[in-house]
Amino acid sequence: MSDPLILGVLASGRGSNLQAITDAITDGSLQAQLGVVLSNKQEAPALARAKAQGIPAYAFDPKDYPSREAYDTVLLETLQAHQVKLVVLAGYMRLLTPELVGPYRGRMINIHPSLLPAFAGLHAQRQALEYGVKLSGCTVHFVDEKMDHGPVIAQAAVPIQADDTEFSLAERILIEEHRLLPQVIQWFAEGRLSIDGRVVRNNTDLDIGVKK
Ligand code: GRF
Repeated sequence: MSDPLILGVLASGRGSNLQAITDAITDGSLQAQLGVVLSNKQEAPALARAKAQGIPAYAFDPKDYPSREAYDTVLLETLQAHQVKLVVLAGYMRLLTPELVGPYRGRMINIHPSLLPAFAGLHAQRQALEYGVKLSGCTVHFVDEKMDHGPVIAQAAVPIQADDTEFSLAERILIEEHRLLPQVIQWFAEGRLSIDGRVVRNNTDLDIGVKK
């Protein structure tokens, strides 16, 4: 058996997507290993979740660094020191510089709570409600230099209900996030994903002849 894919997760907040990843590893549906969890916030619950499970977890305060590039260089060195092969942005609320994106191009993914390219940026659920769309959802995509912009790997749709609030919509989208993110990581681990310009192909040919 090949070595498990080593993940590095960047998270700024609650960490429910991090939890979904660790749950999927525990139940065997995701063949990967958490190498390190990093945050820009010392108090991020995501860090506490990681530490509680014995996963190396560190906060780096942006104020301690002279530039965004210097900050991202430290993140890069930490990810590399932990042999991270796939970086997962799970609620990481900072823009990345080319210093970090470049070395992990094609090996860094983000989850966003809308059907991109609609409603990039902050408060995606509120944006969807205010715009009046009838369908929103979540997107997992490869990361490039622009925010919420790289090639789309997978999306899940969530219908909007007439009485939805930002909170109720976020809750229903989150259920899909927790399903989709570990699934995409497993596809990556299986070597199924290839990038062709903006288009990500999911090589389901691997399924031919394989009995489930
Ligand atoms: C999720 O909605 C994710 O899509 C967005 O930030 C939120 C993070 O939630 N990028 P959590 O910290 O994983 O609970």
